[in-house]
Amino acid sequence: MKFKRVKMVYFSPTKTTQKVLESIANGIDVEEVVHFDLTYPKNIEQTIAPFLDEIVIIGAPVYAGRLPVVAVERFKQLRANNTLAIIVVVYGNRGFDDALLELKNLVIELGFIPIAGAAFVGEHSFSTHDTPVAQGRPDSLDIQDTMEFAQKINDKIKTLLTFKIQNNLEISGNFPYKDEMPPNKVTPVVNEKLCNECGMCIDVCPTGAISFEEGIITKTELCIRCCACVKSCPNEARVVENSAWKAISHTLNANCNIRKEPELFL
Ligand SMILES: Cc1cc2nc3c(=O)[nH]c(=O)nc-3n(C[C@H](O)[C@H](O)[C@H](O)COP(=O)(O)O)c2cc1C
Repeated sequence: MKFKRVKMVYFSPTKTTQKVLESIANGIDVEEVVHFDLTYPKNIEQTIAPFLDEIVIIGAPVYAGRLPVVAVERFKQLRANNTLAIIVVVYGNRGFDDALLELKNLVIELGFIPIAGAAFVGEHSFSTHDTPVAQGRPDSLDIQDTMEFAQKINDKIKTLLTFKIQNNLEISGNFPYKDEMPPNKVTPVVNEKLCNECGMCIDVCPTGAISFEEGIITKTELCIRCCACVKSCPNEARVVENSAWKAISHTLNANCNIRKEPELFL
């Protein structure tokens, strides 16, 4: 089989998933790479064109061993008709548990046929200067692995015969899946002394949780703790102050400091 286009479909608040997908897509033997970024509320209103003559790479981060609920909701708008898919999760060096299996089952439900899957490592959303977790990943070694993964996909695509493609990709993970994360009770806060109200945090929030109403307001019920606002603030004015959340960062820093390598499923 041969394809004209690879379409990347992703949810990626702090951009590590996007980076991994871009690198895989660049290694796939096609004429064109198209982005379909479902991270931001404004992009969700786009009409989703049917998938034709293309292969799709679909990716999301791992949240508590699962897919982020909001990513699942957004992916559920996609419809495919036996379109081939490469499924990717990116996790912060703790573990990906059931997330890749959840993504596999979801894409099958949407009409895709997953032919390859991978779990890559990205800098943990909760990583800070003081408590780094998988800092700087995906790094050059990970990028090399994405190239090798893409090459294996190219080889696999060449051998596929349209009438024989089956849903038989084996992925690690368990069903029933791990429990979903409980509702969020805390959000990053604004350090008023550093904030110059530039609005960057509002722009990068994937759920529209941040708004400007006589100061920066964050709606707890919408915040998914992705830390896009913390990581993108040019003045380091978005900070995590909650002690339980900070304790999680310390635990991750202490327990997840042995480098994990990408896992590929073909
Ligand atoms: C709420 C939340 C839960 C997370 N849970 C996990 C987890 O269970 N295992 C893990 O290794 N990383 C976990 N992470 C880290 C992210 O999976 C990781 O940082 C990923 O690279 C973020 O992807 P993005 O840059 O595309 O947003 C979690 C991050 C957040 C915000």
